[in-house]
Amino acid sequence: MIKKAVIPAAGYGTRFLPAAKAQPKEMLPIVDTPTIQFVVEEAVAAGITDILIIIGKGKRAIEEHFDRNFELEAELEAKGKLSELETIRRISGMAEVHFVWQKELRGLGDAVRCARHHVNGEPFLLLLGDTLIQSRVSVARRLIELHEHYNETVVALEPVDPAKVGRYGVIGGSAIGTGLYLIESLIEKPAAGEAPSNLAIASRYAFSPRIFQYIDQTQPGKNGEIQLTDAMQLMLRDAAMYGYVIDGRRHDIGNKLDFLRTNVIYGLEHPEVGAEFREFLKELAKGLGEVKGEG
Ligand code: UTP
Repeated sequence: MIKKAVIPAAGYGTRFLPAAKAQPKEMLPIVDTPTIQFVVEEAVAAGITDILIIIGKGKRAIEEHFDRNFELEAELEAKGKLSELETIRRISGMAEVHFVWQKELRGLGDAVRCARHHVNGEPFLLLLGDTLIQSRVSVARRLIELHEHYNETVVALEPVDPAKVGRYGVIGGSAIGTGLYLIESLIEKPAAGEAPSNLAIASRYAFSPRIFQYIDQTQPGKNGEIQLTDAMQLMLRDAAMYGYVIDGRRHDIGNKLDFLRTNVIYGLEHPEVGAEFREFLKELAKGLGEVKGEG
């Protein structure tokens, strides 16, 4: 059973500048909770007990977020803010969280390589630190179960707009069950007409530890980066790989529009502000209708 998870969170986040200049994009909040906390919670809920977060320059806030803050705890206790105290204590107690530095930002494949020592020959779950998945069934848990069944790498897939496949890592393969594919090819950010399907790799993976040997063989690809998709393509020559189509939606917080959408979706469900926010949006939507009508 997979017990270890790796969360890459070292990237520059150039699509979210200037906010990502001096703070990690993985710490951008969805209402009141940093994105990466949701990712860690997702892993823990799927049975993960050991988490390795890959960080880099400017990412210390992530370490601090998962550490204890005794001064703040004492302050909250003294002021009788017990629910807030419980909230911040829970964060540091969720799982054993470790950190490793990616010294040069050479791409996602290179970031994953930094986990080799910690993973220590075991299969592991990989969750991108800037991406949330909202689904009825836990995608992380499903990937772990499928990995247990096939004893091979399994990746989450999401159908995307065929006009936008060029933004993603895309698979080609054959259906072997409902929402289940045997992967035959992988391509990172395919050019128009090059994409074998509209099924994009959706930021969650259950990896066989063999992936590290293929990352070592991978040459810099798109954008001069060591692409994880390229390493997976190499691994595909020697090993079977499966794809699981998520029953839900992926939110890439490093993308401005997705960040806004996700805050609206989670804001509407928030126990404290959801009801008032809904009323606010209804009022706002009426105004938007008028603007459209006038134009
Ligand atoms: P992205 O593909 O969003 O890349 O990374 P990025 O460089 O962070 O962002 P942009 O494209 O410049 O806006 C997906 C996840 O992988 C991590 C990122 O931190 C993010 O959580 N990552 C990416 C690394 O840890 N190291 C890298 O070298 C690249």
